[in-house]
Amino acid sequence: MRLQILSDLHLETEAFEPEPAAGADLLVLAGDIDSTWQGYARFAGWPVPVLVVPGNHEFDRRELRTALPAFRDHCAGLGLQVLERDEWLHTDAQGRRVRFLGTVRWSDFEVFGTALQAKALKAAGYFQKVMQARLDGQVFDAAAVREEGLACRAWLQDQLSAARPPAEPVDSTVVITHFAPSLHSADPRYGQQATTASFCNADEGLIAAADAWIHGHVHWRSDYRLPRPGGGFSRVICQARGLPRKGESEGFEPLRLFEV
Ligand SMILES: [Fe+2]
Ligand SMILES: [Fe+2]
Repeated sequence: MRLQILSDLHLETEAFEPEPAAGADLLVLAGDIDSTWQGYARFAGWPVPVLVVPGNHEFDRRELRTALPAFRDHCAGLGLQVLERDEWLHTDAQGRRVRFLGTVRWSDFEVFGTALQAKALKAAGYFQKVMQARLDGQVFDAAAVREEGLACRAWLQDQLSAARPPAEPVDSTVVITHFAPSLHSADPRYGQQATTASFCNADEGLIAAADAWIHGHVHWRSDYRLPRPGGGFSRVICQARGLPRKGESEGFEPLRLFEV
């Protein structure tokens, strides 16, 4: 199954006209497409199904509990499929059946271990100020982000558990998150500083249970493989466009196809 993947277009400030890639079976949007949501209209009438996992910025200046159902409605009105702790199955023209598991998977700030968790939470303060989101009437601060992240993780863990196989056999399982699942995805421009915990989780144990894992959030594209205990590899892909003013979109190939 061939996927066109886009994330971190940041259409709230950036100019970009997405075009359908010839030969793609699906388009995956892995978050931070447009914090105003207006840019999602560009994907209405897309020639193939469009899967959307919201990014952190889709919740900017919003109340999470009401924003998620509103975002689902907004995207449904455009014919787009939102995945937030949701499974979606697709069979391509060749009969290949792929299970997609999507969730924002917010940071739990444990990527450097529990000993450095407090430091990582403190370093996240800046990002929460930028977002200005709320949860149940309270500031959606780093501690609340962590709680949401752990809930996303628990859902994924359950879905990927060997004790809970898919209802119908599938050829491949693909996870889509906004936050990165491994420090292997970390932006090398920033290295392993405390703020990196606001971008990457340590989900290697879950990566091994998936054939591929697509993410955004890190404005640094990557495509790598990690060995699976039973043999073979899991592929991790980030197709973020990022911010042209920082040179992040240089070399970006929006029409590139990824086989899963
Ligand atoms: Fe982003
Ligand atoms: Fe993000």
